[in-house]
Amino acid sequence: MSTLAGKYIVLGLSGGIAAYKSAELCRALVKAGVTVQVVMTEAAEHFMTAVTMQALSGRPVYTSQWDAREANNMAHINLSRDADAIVVAPASADFLSKLLHGGADELLSLMCLARPIDQVPLIVAPAMNREMWSNPATQRNVLQLKADGVQVLDVGQGDQACGETGDGRMLEAEEILDDLEAFFSPKPLAGKTVLVTAGPTYEAIDPVRGITNLSSGKMGFAIARAARMAGADVTLVAGPVHLPTPRKVKRINVQSARQMLDAVQQQVDAAQVFISTAAVADWRPAHSADQKIKKDGSGQTPQLGFVENPDILATVAHSPRAVSGQLFCVGFAAESHDLLAHATAKRIRKGVPLLVGNIGPATFGQDDNALLLVDETGARELPYASKQTLAVQLMDDIARRL
Ligand code: C5P
Repeated sequence: MSTLAGKYIVLGLSGGIAAYKSAELCRALVKAGVTVQVVMTEAAEHFMTAVTMQALSGRPVYTSQWDAREANNMAHINLSRDADAIVVAPASADFLSKLLHGGADELLSLMCLARPIDQVPLIVAPAMNREMWSNPATQRNVLQLKADGVQVLDVGQGDQACGETGDGRMLEAEEILDDLEAFFSPKPLAGKTVLVTAGPTYEAIDPVRGITNLSSGKMGFAIARAARMAGADVTLVAGPVHLPTPRKVKRINVQSARQMLDAVQQQVDAAQVFISTAAVADWRPAHSADQKIKKDGSGQTPQLGFVENPDILATVAHSPRAVSGQLFCVGFAAESHDLLAHATAKRIRKGVPLLVGNIGPATFGQDDNALLLVDETGARELPYASKQTLAVQLMDDIARRL
């Protein structure tokens, strides 16, 4: 379940073309279980209608500090007192400047100024033309707003409505949702660096063929996302999968087991936790042909010899930092039967303090799974749930062990 479920968020829209994304954001927040109260500036109403935002939020929109629906006529006070956060998206250059100076000539800025600053976080998603964004005035405002405790989200990069290209786009609704979820998540891994491997590896036979496996990478990507939500700096070494990179996660793409080992060895010294979810190919072809192996019509098949790949997890788990306890290593085991016995034996063989077992054929490519956490004291089951949920539970468990 999302950390946003049950929250009450006041979603403010200031004037900017990115306001069209706020409709999507509103919908996504409601879907995540958030009660959304929309407040729009007059400028915002030039881009979106209050009718649209009311329909999506299921609540009448506030656009004026003179709204007679409030018995005491103090919408700015009433709206902000119970909010878990005020999220302004889009936050225009003008609105940021207004916030900075404590301007309060319309309901949204008035409400931001009137919020109990220690209880109601203010989160803004800037949106503007690239020149406006890079202007020293805006950059100064952003710095000062951060110093004042405002959470200023990143801006996106790319094509802008004005026809120019650069920084200043508002983040996509999904990205804002992710950042809000991270904001509300407990941070048991704050200050830690977590290195994750995920997906299959691909071992080339020739330039167009190779051997791989059915690992989708979903569990490893969910773990990388959950580690970021839990406050860690995360590096994800990914085999060939077509999954979007979780936000704020550094991704390194590799193909083969040997490339994965190289990437892991380059990153692991900075990490306190190594989680090896990748389904690394046990063997690779002894020789990878430089040119495509041709069928010559004789009916002869190529003779493929195999050599064993390095065991990345065992290599890392036997390194001095892991042995001395500075690096906590977690292995995965995808088994088809006798999960407890195999996982217990594998934990000892790999030399890791924690091994996570799951039933391989049941989980490959799926969005749900069940996990068995095996350590030196025994086993604990994380029952069937989405991989995202399990990943969050696993991060909590790992954080307690550090
Ligand atoms: O031996 P097995 O492949 O079942 O072990 C699974 C665990 O070992 C997983 O954590 C996997 O990421 C890791 N592993 C590895 N390098 C290999 C094989 C497996 O890191 N060559």
